[in-house]
Amino acid sequence: MVLCVALSLATVALAAANTAADIYGARCAECHGVDGNGNTATGKTKCASTCHTADGKPAGKAMPRFNAPEILRMSDAQLIAVIRDGKEKMPAFGSKLSAADTEALAKYVRVLQKK
Ligand code: HEC
Repeated sequence: MVLCVALSLATVALAAANTAADIYGARCAECHGVDGNGNTATGKTKCASTCHTADGKPAGKAMPRFNAPEILRMSDAQLIAVIRDGKEKMPAFGSKLSAADTEALAKYVRVLQKK
């Protein structure tokens, strides 16, 4: 019985992780890359004019890497706000994603930052 509950909890956790990864793959990877390094053709187009670091400094034509120091310093609330409201060339996802999915994506960005 205990094992059963533990197993189903693990399955739920795994399903949640898969969902965030799936949403990321469908909505974010095109620009940010599957690994979050931003080295994509679309990302380069988006940043053909200037993109910015998380603290607002011009970053030239480089898409921000999720593991850049300024993005590592962002709070979970700040990550959620960027995903919801967008920023410059980063589209807003507030009308496309639920609050729960947005939060799951912010957590997934944290996972990618450790890769
Ligand atoms: C159409 C391309 C595009 C898509 C799709 C996209 N982004 Fe972005 N994202 C950008 C660009 C461009 C920037 C840099 C904006 C700037 O600072 O000028 C950015 C910045 C960010 C940042 C850093 C914010 C900061 O303040 O530096 C995070 C975190 C982020 N995106 C997460 C996501 C997530 C999660 C998704 C999927 C829901 C996503 N993005 C989808 C283009 C995109």
